[in-house]
Amino acid sequence: MKKLGWGIAATGGIARTVGAVIAAEPGMRVAAVGSRDAGRAAALAAELGAERSYGSYAALCADPEVDVVYVATPHAQHLAVAEPAIAEGKAVLCEKPLAGSLADAERMAKLAKDAGVFLMEAMWMRFNPLIRRLAADGRFGEIRSVQASFGFVAPYDPQHRLWNPATAGGAVLDLGVYPLALAHLLLGEPEALHVTGTLAPSGVDAEAGMLLTYAGGARALLETSLVSPMANSATVVGTGLRADLPAPFWAPGRMVLSGPGVEPEEHVLDPSRGGYQEQAREVAAALAEGRTESEVMPVADSLAVMRRMEEVRAALGAA
Ligand SMILES: NC(=O)c1ccc[n+]([C@@H]2O[C@H](COP(=O)([O-])OP(=O)(O)OC[C@H]3O[C@@H](n4cnc5c(N)ncnc54)[C@H](OP(=O)(O)O)[C@@H]3O)[C@@H](O)[C@H]2O)c1
Repeated sequence: MKKLGWGIAATGGIARTVGAVIAAEPGMRVAAVGSRDAGRAAALAAELGAERSYGSYAALCADPEVDVVYVATPHAQHLAVAEPAIAEGKAVLCEKPLAGSLADAERMAKLAKDAGVFLMEAMWMRFNPLIRRLAADGRFGEIRSVQASFGFVAPYDPQHRLWNPATAGGAVLDLGVYPLALAHLLLGEPEALHVTGTLAPSGVDAEAGMLLTYAGGARALLETSLVSPMANSATVVGTGLRADLPAPFWAPGRMVLSGPGVEPEEHVLDPSRGGYQEQAREVAAALAEGRTESEVMPVADSLAVMRRMEEVRAALGAA
């Protein structure tokens, strides 16, 4: 059977990492790499064993050997790649967050829906087998509390994508998306949102503390930062069970479940089943079954988290 052909759009850090995972998957191949620069595209194509490379994203999207375009540009540049890919009828796996703004994300979702094309946010956390196990464990009972943080010290550089408003920089969109996605997975839509934080000199959010409250009094206490080294762990507490996820909670290698009458259980990740692999396999499975969305990571959930991030950033006055 013909291998699923991936087109890697961009040559940065995550394009290289996920491209290598895809290249190593049986049943998949990197068919081509696209970049703003032909030389960078050719270099990454050689590294990933791709036959073709392009000095533009539009040319990559038009390649008939490409079945799926993996969008790995900065957030504000996701739509500009996803749009031509969808227009060419390609499936799209788009890096997190789905876009640099809610409006862009909604446009991308509508384009894919209208075209009947597969679209999924590369929220790899949702594909980590330990996160999936946690979300499916009925012993939690009613989930009362989610606590999670994701923060590190990123040297301030207004030209770097993390700090630059032109690439939709800021802690919330880049890192806060993970704690917010975890809370959304486990608790759904909040009733209210309380936000505190600070802005960087460039105007993007440098840090944010978020308290989300839910019907019945459940809550999520979430933090994100580009200016302090956070614990990067998560704790999920239900009426019957508690989960402790050590750093990095968005890609846990182990988790401990404990509770009344439950001796601490350690669950360890099978290293051949990390989030990037599982995410790529989900795309392949969905396409083989003719689905235009993932049941594990539906577009509606990506949009809900985008909406929350827009609210948080608006509350902080972020650029
Ligand atoms: N899932 C994960 O674990 C994970 C980890 C890190 C990042 N990400 C996500 O992946 C995306 C890219 O992050 P990254 O860390 O790979 O960034 P990066 O290292 O800065 O690479 C971004 C690439 O995007 C391309 N690009 C296109 N337009 C650009 C522009 N206007 N400015 C800068 N670069 C531009 C560039 O490739 P060319 O020069 O070849 O065009 C660049 O190499 C982000 O949305 C981020 O949230 C996900």
